[in-house]
Amino acid sequence: MHTDEGITRRQWLGVLVKALATVLAVAYSIPALVMLIVPAFRRQNPPWIKVGSLHEFPSDEPKAVTLSYQRRDGWVVRTVRSTVYVVVKPDGSLKVLSNICTHASCAVRWERSKNAFFCPCHAAYFDADGRVTQGPPPRPLPEYPHKVEGDLLYVRLENV
Ligand code: FES
Repeated sequence: MHTDEGITRRQWLGVLVKALATVLAVAYSIPALVMLIVPAFRRQNPPWIKVGSLHEFPSDEPKAVTLSYQRRDGWVVRTVRSTVYVVVKPDGSLKVLSNICTHASCAVRWERSKNAFFCPCHAAYFDADGRVTQGPPPRPLPEYPHKVEGDLLYVRLENV
């Protein structure tokens, strides 16, 4: 049987079945695509990064360690380098401090003669615990989470 435009009922059914199959194929593929794409953009916990053996860190002054690790941003994986200071306190407890000043993000360095961290950008000082002792920084040096397993120190370089 022909319609007014000359298309048979069988042809209409064929078009309808193909359209329905296309809609179903797209609908079924969406969850699979989401499962592939979403993990790349999901925020993951930063990994624990090995800093070194405990015996490498003196108890008389903070020691700078430059760490290199892989960071994933979406589909992009890049290598990031960060410097931290490992501070061993008299009671044997540890702190891992950022070397980034909280004022304008300059790199601080340990000054043995002053027994303090010094920020050269605006002449600020922080004590060995990272507390501001002089200058404009609004907060102490950020402290990173750390853990000790056996003789090894690990740090998690979160945005702190
Ligand atoms: S950036 Fe460190 S005191 Fe200004």
